[in-house]
Amino acid sequence: MNESTSIAERFRSKFGANPRVYRAPGRVNLIGEHTDYNEGFVMPAAIGMYCWVAISPREDRKLVLRSDEFSGTVDVDLGSAEIRPRRMWSDYPVGVALQLKQMGLPLPGANILIHGDIPMGAGLSSSAAVEVATALALAEESGHTWDRVQLARLCQKAENEFVGARVGIMDQFISLHGRKNHALLLDCRSLHFEFAAIPENVRLVVCNTMEKHELASSGYNQRRAECEEAVRRLAQAMPGIHSLRDVTLEQLERHRGTLSEITYKRALHVVTENARVLEAAEALRSGDIARFGKRMGESHCSLRDLYEVSCAELDVMVELAGKQEGVYGARMTGGGFGGSTINLVEARFAEAFAERVARGYEKETGIAPKIQICTPAGGATLVEPSDLQE
Ligand code: GLA
Repeated sequence: MNESTSIAERFRSKFGANPRVYRAPGRVNLIGEHTDYNEGFVMPAAIGMYCWVAISPREDRKLVLRSDEFSGTVDVDLGSAEIRPRRMWSDYPVGVALQLKQMGLPLPGANILIHGDIPMGAGLSSSAAVEVATALALAEESGHTWDRVQLARLCQKAENEFVGARVGIMDQFISLHGRKNHALLLDCRSLHFEFAAIPENVRLVVCNTMEKHELASSGYNQRRAECEEAVRRLAQAMPGIHSLRDVTLEQLERHRGTLSEITYKRALHVVTENARVLEAAEALRSGDIARFGKRMGESHCSLRDLYEVSCAELDVMVELAGKQEGVYGARMTGGGFGGSTINLVEARFAEAFAERVARGYEKETGIAPKIQICTPAGGATLVEPSDLQE
């Protein structure tokens, strides 16, 4: 039985109605880390791990939420003016529903069951996938077709305002726009994007350190504040800049004296990372995966030494990867402070790579990692009823 069939069955037994099922994928980011909220460039790819949302309408205006991963039922009256975060899993779907409501969508009530196979806290965007699957389900079931860029913005706003994590737009955007066998180059200022094909003989190998990260309580918001501080200071000498996107390496060096050591390091990461993304995209266009991989390695060092969002486990994983045959590049992926690494590996070496890295990692850290061999997947979608009958 596939995932969507079983979630539909569990939904029927919990709510006594036939649901429609939506799913949204998790992601890896190939390069461009902590650049999205600085209006820079990112290059993520959706992967075939999903959040599933089964939904059916209700007569009243209640949102009744259940989850396969968490116990209990959460009941929210959408007509109420006072809906507050509860600091738990339901904040993601409820935050999204409130955003839809605030944007003027007359949301009817709904029963919802959520199931996910994206590991939580692994840096693979399980949160964005919940938001996106819920947003798509609620919007479509209300009979409205929303532009996907608008939906991505709305989900990001929900996480910023209701959950309290000041994330950028990358994760929600790729979950809605993923394309099979392609990575996506996104300009986070204009939201202009293009797809870049990942060669058929290359695999995305995801190595989960099993060291959990938690964005809302980690140094994520602090990093974001440090970048804003850098912009404020640099703007005194360079009026008219809005974000680190507007700063060149030469300008940063010239005005280094206006920054503290910490803010300089953060800014240096962002400015050089943006340049690396553009170079990596160019390398991919010309089929030079080795050059792409080099930029990934540099990105990891910058995140470790300048942005300081790596951790011992991520560094061990990247170091081990670098010693294997057939690997083009390896780096931490996502927000950091734990989570996963992404490795570009030649397909015929992928299995051996996974085995050796797993063995080496366990030996060094005492932790058994989870390693998955992936290819880029498509974006969020309604699961057709024919798929439910399999
Ligand atoms: C998390 C956030 C993204 C992005 C990355 C770091 O995944 O959700 O918006 O900032 O961290 O690149």
